[in-house]
Amino acid sequence: MLAELSPALIAEVKLAAKLLAAKQHICILTGAGISAESGIPTFRDKQTGLWENYGVEDLATPEAFTRDPKLVWSWYQWRRQLVADKAPNPAHHALAQWQYHAQTSDQQVTLITQNVDDLHEQAGSSVTHLHGHLWRNRCGQCQTPSQDQPRTSYDNRNTMSFDEALLTCPHCGGYIRPDIVWFGEALPIQAWQIAEEAAANCEVFISIGTSSLVYPAAGLAQLAKQNGAKIIEINPDPTPNTIVDITLAEKAGVILPLLIEEITAL
Ligand code: OAD
Repeated sequence: MLAELSPALIAEVKLAAKLLAAKQHICILTGAGISAESGIPTFRDKQTGLWENYGVEDLATPEAFTRDPKLVWSWYQWRRQLVADKAPNPAHHALAQWQYHAQTSDQQVTLITQNVDDLHEQAGSSVTHLHGHLWRNRCGQCQTPSQDQPRTSYDNRNTMSFDEALLTCPHCGGYIRPDIVWFGEALPIQAWQIAEEAAANCEVFISIGTSSLVYPAAGLAQLAKQNGAKIIEINPDPTPNTIVDITLAEKAGVILPLLIEEITAL
C-alpha cells in the first residue's frame, strides 16, 4: 500500500513512525475529518458541510435552543439519523489497534476527540470527548442526564427514536437537549483536564482531521509545542499551521493504517 503514495509522503510516514516508535507519551486529537471517510460530513466542507443550510448561531448555541428548541432538537435528531448507520473506517481501527498494542509496550497513547459520534468507541478505542456525545441527552434547565436516552451505547441503535417532538424533563419540566457542548459553553471539566494534561506532558502530539479553528481544543497543539513536543498533522488539506513538524497530507484512512503498521513493526 505504501507504493500508492508519493515517495516524499512515504518518506514522511517513515519519519513520523520512527519518531513515534521512540517516544513514550503520545497525545492524539481528532476532528470531523477522521469520520469523513465513514460518510459523516465535516463542518466546514463547502458542499456537504453540516452547517450548509443554517449558521452555527441557529443550531448550536444555548441561545438558539432558548429561541427555537424545536428547530435545534429536530436538527440533532436529523444528525443522529445521519450518523446512526455509520461505521468506523480504517483510521479509527488503526488508532484502536495502536492503543491495544501500546498496552503491551511502554507507550501511553491518549486519544482526545472533538467529535460527538462514537466511531472511536465502536472501533475499540478508549477516548475522551471534548465536545460531548451525540447519543446522550440531558435537561437544558436542571442539567439532569436524561433517563430516556435515545441510545446509551452503539449496541442498541435499532431501538432509538428520531422523533422530532420535544421531550421534557421529569424533574423540572425543562426541555431535553443533546449532551453536546455548544458554542459559548464550557467544555466538560474532567475531559478538558485529561486533554490538557496529555497535551502538556506528551512528546509527540498528532492532530488528525481538524481545521484547528475552534478553541480551546485548537490550543492543545500549541500547549504541547510549548512543552517541547513534536507536532504531526494528518490532513489532506493541511492547516496553515507553523508549529507542525511533520505534515502527512493525505486522508486519515490512508495514512493511519500505514503509520501504525510501521510503528508496531519497529
Ligand atoms: P472541521 O469541519 O472544521 O474540519 C475538518 C478537517 O478535516 C478539515 O481540515 C479537512 O481538511 C479535514 N479532512 C477532511 N477529510 C479528511 C480525511 N479523510 N482525513 C483527514 N482529514 C480530513 O471539523 P473540526 O475541526 O472537527 O464543534 O471542527 C471543530 C469543531 O467545530 C467541531 O467539534 C464542532 C464544530 O463546530 C461543536 O459542535 C462544538
